[in-house]
Amino acid sequence: MKHWDQFLTPYKQAVEELKIKLKGMRSQFKLDSSHSPIEFVTGRVKPIASILDKANQKGIPLDKLEEEMQDIAGLRMMCQFVDDIHGVVDLLRNRNDLEVLEERDYISHKKSSGYRSYHVVIRYPVQTINGEKKILAEIQIRTLAMNFWATVEHSLNYKYKGDFPSDIKKRLEFAAEAAFRLDEEMSLIRGEIQDAQAFFTRKKEQKQEGKN
Ligand code: GTP
Ligand code: MG
Repeated sequence: MKHWDQFLTPYKQAVEELKIKLKGMRSQFKLDSSHSPIEFVTGRVKPIASILDKANQKGIPLDKLEEEMQDIAGLRMMCQFVDDIHGVVDLLRNRNDLEVLEERDYISHKKSSGYRSYHVVIRYPVQTINGEKKILAEIQIRTLAMNFWATVEHSLNYKYKGDFPSDIKKRLEFAAEAAFRLDEEMSLIRGEIQDAQAFFTRKKEQKQEGKN
């Protein structure tokens, strides 16, 4: 439908631009040969069916989507360590090409489902042939363990439509606890892991230099 195409075009552009910019942050850290707090970045525009479902559930009129649906453009930044998340949020706050509007800390305050992540809502200017258009986007920043849990829970949610059998619900709670402990364990040996990673990066560079 032409109307949806027109509506979603600036969101698609924003997601593509932001993916490049956020991945660029990772490359810059790698160049400095310091530890990159960013492991990988993904982005998506919410499918039309999901936009309609959510608008329906939340009672958002379709002519208010721009202001009231914050996650039509969505980005995720995955980190190795919980502490990296706060560093990444600081980097976002300091950027001049976007404006941080809201922050939701589901790490200090996990959701009742067990979900953990740090959410940042931004306003991002896109340049169009009709001038500048500012759109809302949601960036979710999480560790690999948080992402693993959320991805699995999301699939199960889809299957059971949020109405989990009690054994599955229990298992998900255990899994959330295990993911939390995994993050804690990794934080404790963070120095050791980073030394090893720096060592292998140097080795790889030396090998590369040997070849050239
Ligand atoms: P929405 O109305 O969905 O936007 O919820 P909200 O505004 O109360 O919370 P927020 O926007 O901070 O979080 C919504 C997004 O976080 C969802 O689109 C998911 O990507 C993610 N999320 C939140 N809770 C859960 C959860 O329990 N499980 C999973 N897998 N993801 C979640
Ligand atoms: Mg939301």
